[in-house]
Amino acid sequence: QTIYLKDYAPTPYRIVSVDLDFRILEEATRVRAQLTIEPRDDTAPGTPLVLNGDGLKLETIAIDGLPLVLSAYAADADSLTVVEPPNRRFVLDTEVMLQPEANTKLMGLYRSSGTWCTQCEPEGFRRITYYLDRPDVLAPFKVRITAPLAVAPVLLSNGNLIDKGDAGDGLHFALWEDPFPKPAYLFALVAGDLGSITDSFTTQSGRKVDLAIYCTHGKENECHYAMDSLKRSMAWDERRFGREYDLDVFNIVAVSDFNFGAMENKGLNIFNDKLVFAEPNTVTDANYHSIERVIAHEYFHNWTGNRITCRDWFQLCLKEGLTVYRDQEFTSDERSRPVQRIHDVQNLRSSQFPEDGGPLAHPPRPDSFREINNFYTTTVYEKGAEIVRMLATLLGEAGFRKGMDLYFERHDGEATTIEAFLKVFEDATGTDLRQFGIWYLQAGTPQITVSDSYDAASQTYSLTLTQKVEPTPGQPDKQPLLIPVRFGLVGPNGSEMSWSGVSGGTVKDDLILLDQPSVTLRFTGIANKPIPSLFRGFSAPVKVSSSLSQSDLLFLAGHDSDPFNRWDALQTVLTNLIAGAAQGRPRADSDLDGLRQAIVDTLENPELDEAFKANVIAIPGESSIGRHIGKDVDPDAVAKARHDLLVALVKPIEARLEAMYRSLETSAAYSPDAKQAGERSLRTGLLNLLVAGAGRSDLAEAQYNAATNMTDRYAAMALAARHWTGNAQALLGDFRTRFAGDPLVFDKWLTASAQASDDGVIERMRATLAAPDFPKTNPNRLRSLLGSFVMTNPSQFARADGAGFRFITEAVAEIDKVNPQVASRVLTGFRVLPTLEAGRRESGKAALEALKSQHQLSRNVGEILDRILGA
Ligand code: ARG
Ligand code: ZN
Repeated sequence: QTIYLKDYAPTPYRIVSVDLDFRILEEATRVRAQLTIEPRDDTAPGTPLVLNGDGLKLETIAIDGLPLVLSAYAADADSLTVVEPPNRRFVLDTEVMLQPEANTKLMGLYRSSGTWCTQCEPEGFRRITYYLDRPDVLAPFKVRITAPLAVAPVLLSNGNLIDKGDAGDGLHFALWEDPFPKPAYLFALVAGDLGSITDSFTTQSGRKVDLAIYCTHGKENECHYAMDSLKRSMAWDERRFGREYDLDVFNIVAVSDFNFGAMENKGLNIFNDKLVFAEPNTVTDANYHSIERVIAHEYFHNWTGNRITCRDWFQLCLKEGLTVYRDQEFTSDERSRPVQRIHDVQNLRSSQFPEDGGPLAHPPRPDSFREINNFYTTTVYEKGAEIVRMLATLLGEAGFRKGMDLYFERHDGEATTIEAFLKVFEDATGTDLRQFGIWYLQAGTPQITVSDSYDAASQTYSLTLTQKVEPTPGQPDKQPLLIPVRFGLVGPNGSEMSWSGVSGGTVKDDLILLDQPSVTLRFTGIANKPIPSLFRGFSAPVKVSSSLSQSDLLFLAGHDSDPFNRWDALQTVLTNLIAGAAQGRPRADSDLDGLRQAIVDTLENPELDEAFKANVIAIPGESSIGRHIGKDVDPDAVAKARHDLLVALVKPIEARLEAMYRSLETSAAYSPDAKQAGERSLRTGLLNLLVAGAGRSDLAEAQYNAATNMTDRYAAMALAARHWTGNAQALLGDFRTRFAGDPLVFDKWLTASAQASDDGVIERMRATLAAPDFPKTNPNRLRSLLGSFVMTNPSQFARADGAGFRFITEAVAEIDKVNPQVASRVLTGFRVLPTLEAGRRESGKAALEALKSQHQLSRNVGEILDRILGA
């Protein structure tokens, strides 16, 4: 059944306050809820009260202390109806029994390695007790937890601890109170035998906040980087947005079984442990980077998500897009801004663009869904962040900050909407944002076409920009968007050209406002033909088909004052060459000479930092080339074209690259800071060229054996595995035994194994999955193997014989019975089907149809399947 935004209506009853009493025992957990409820002023007397449930079994029910007679209510697993509630404030008292041990969906209350923990966003609270489980129902919570002292010495919930003590019979209790009214999705509880590290942070107004990170015993020493990231996040939000933390405690708990990255529960964030634990021998620089980002993200939710939440789940982007923007800004300020921008755009292009251009496309604010869990997507998160970034670009830093201040002032304590968010910026700056708002409502990536001409006689330069969005499911007709184009005109000597006048459209300083289907700008007073540098800093989430020649692009790569566009220009040249070859267009040797020179120039430029250089030599992957081609893609042809180009490019400079590679070797003690990480990533980038373009698996093996940290060791092994070099199996084997017993390192082994390019990969994966000790209930293990395969091994996933497709649909059918969220996420890999050549397209469809007809599927998987099949 489909839910529509247009059907939104507030509940007829409000929940005034919540008292929960959890009695946790090994066999089962009893939950008693005392909900103080009142009808709204306009609720007709006798209106039934309907509470959500999911798999619950009601044990007792009373109102104001009096048990209800059977005819006064109706209860089943999925709902509880009080037929005729009192027409005044009353207390509804219910009790249910839960089996957290048997909860493999990992939503609601479940057990992870012995620890009881919760995940409630978006609709998990209804698996704990009958409730108005929607984000616009806000209430203060008091939570009493009783549990055996021996198994669960640590008892945590939201807010402040107000009491604790002995409860007899080997039990103890804790009483938590969260004074901030919150929706149920922000509820959390943890009970277990956990170690911890503690620290404190003093806010700008001088309040001391106690900080703690809880984890499995023995892992405490791996939590310090997360703690450091937390303190830096707290300070940054004060500096940049004037936002202070509001409770006396902030707790983080790391758990091993978790459906996604982490969760911003009020005062008690719960994390997937892979986003907490850090230690140089077992995690990589990339892991440190994500830990810092996600710790910040969840902390920032305290203001953008918790203090101000969403009215309904259609508004998810209100908190997620904005919070991703905030965490991106944090990382940019803490590390290198241009490098972070490249990183974020690479991510957007590799995951959001394919979503937006395929059968799963949806607006950042959708208007209908069957299963809300399927809408925690890169469109809601990352495109949502790009929309906020465009807003900041349009309004300028000061205007944007004024709007944000007004947002916090006007909506604190509310559950609100995208419209209200846009309105604060209109009111604070007097800007009309009606056209801009279409970004939230319209799916699809705008395609920008550029053409230009120069008239020497009149010294006039004309630039035409055209926008177009292809139809997406349910949205055949598209409206023109307001697109901010940050730009510059680059002159023949590489410097910025200025103009004496411009007509034909709106240009403010270095910003063109593209607000029509097509705009032609005429710049006067231009002495020479310029090269346009458009969408500097990736000022809008669009695809650009540029009219620039390869030599113009290479010129920009060497001279543009905007580092993002320097990087992007070279990527465009590489992509064009590989895609061209894959489609049978021959390339000239001279094309390659210029490209090679540009790469060497970049590598030898002392002014550029190493992380930036690493991005420049990162050759676009097969998936990225496939997406550029767009349709009738043959992944084998793409892989071959990419390989051929690498060989032709690298061979003549192998010795120079090897010398640079060797010069980056260091004996400095490991530090995860951006500078050292940048040096390692450049070294890895060079190794990649040498392995892929010159067959130097000897260098990978040497690096693997000499490595003194996981970053270097993993990179070497993953490269060997990817190219399935002669020594790949030996390195994988060594890695597996060397780190046996560490589940998070096993994930790295699974990922590297899943990326192997040889035809044996599927059989090996089947064997891995079928091993009796493979933990099929753990999302990290499943995603590392299957998620990596579908998203990053296109030539094996989309194998011509259909074996890759069938392997995945069979695995999805099995996982769906255990954890539908993980299953449906893996299945989204099939969104690539429409881009493939006919044979592969058909065999992919056949695998999906078999999945549909042969299995009883969850709502999660069913929805994704139907959308991909176009049903
Ligand atoms: N709100 C969490 C975050 O962004 C993620 C919750 C994801 N929930 C889901 N059902 N996928 O940090
Ligand atoms: Zn979030």
